[in-house]
Amino acid sequence: MHVVLDIIVLLGKLIFFYFEALFRKIVPPSKKSVRGKVVVITGGAGGLGRCLALKFAGLGAKVAVWDINKSLNENTAMNISSLGGKAKAIVCDVTDRQSVRNAASLTRSELGEVDIIVNNAGIMPCRRLLDLSEEEIKRTININTTSHFWTVREFLPHMLAQNEGHIVTVASMASKAGIPLLTDYCASKHGAYGFAEAVKAEMHMLGSKNIHNTTICPMQINTNLVTCLGDRIDYRNR
Ligand SMILES: NC(=O)c1ccc[n+]([C@@H]2O[C@H](COP(=O)([O-])OP(=O)(O)OC[C@H]3O[C@@H](n4cnc5c(N)ncnc54)[C@H](O)[C@@H]3O)[C@@H](O)[C@H]2O)c1
Repeated sequence: MHVVLDIIVLLGKLIFFYFEALFRKIVPPSKKSVRGKVVVITGGAGGLGRCLALKFAGLGAKVAVWDINKSLNENTAMNISSLGGKAKAIVCDVTDRQSVRNAASLTRSELGEVDIIVNNAGIMPCRRLLDLSEEEIKRTININTTSHFWTVREFLPHMLAQNEGHIVTVASMASKAGIPLLTDYCASKHGAYGFAEAVKAEMHMLGSKNIHNTTICPMQINTNLVTCLGDRIDYRNR
């Protein structure tokens, strides 16, 4: 009897979500304005982070790009400034708690309190489980997952006080599956995804309805992360 009920509920939900998706296709939700908002983007020196920085700045946001790569990061900020936008390049190793504190403090003093944080910095070593060194494993987890604790904990108190903010997590389709040669990466991205889901649930529990969460799970984008994959993977010994 329970099985029949479960199937009826499941079918009901499927029909509801189908019509909801159809409705949203016809009447898309209104886009939120980021004009004048302060956005922190980690890993802003290249790839996706750089694209996001340019896009946010183009929409009128004030952007702080954080990265370990000083020159390319400054290049992103310079590009934004030359296009008339407002940006600040800050050297930050997101795995280093003190480096995150310093970057947050510099962001606040230069641009103001942070409205949106985009946890984007990431690495993907692409090595067999037994070939990864302990240091490599820790580094992947630290950059791709643990750093999200440091950045979010830095800005969440202000977001809670204002009951406004947005936390964006750049996860991956590797958050949803297991992929060979990517044990550390998959584990780290499952972690990032889980962290974001738990933050979302906690905001709901606290009644902080205006602190939003967006998690994106890209498949493959042509950036440095993947372009040199062929060189890094030793196919002979796979
Ligand atoms: N490119 C893809 O196909 C793809 C697919 C799914 C998810 N992603 C995710 O998108 C995000 C961006 O990746 P990308 O493709 O733009 O790669 P990318 O290598 O072009 O950029 C990553 C950036 O992170 C920075 N970074 C690395 N370690 C750091 C640290 N400790 N502190 C601060 N910055 C650091 C790098 O210097 C670099 O600028 C990553 O989280 C990645 O996992 C990428």
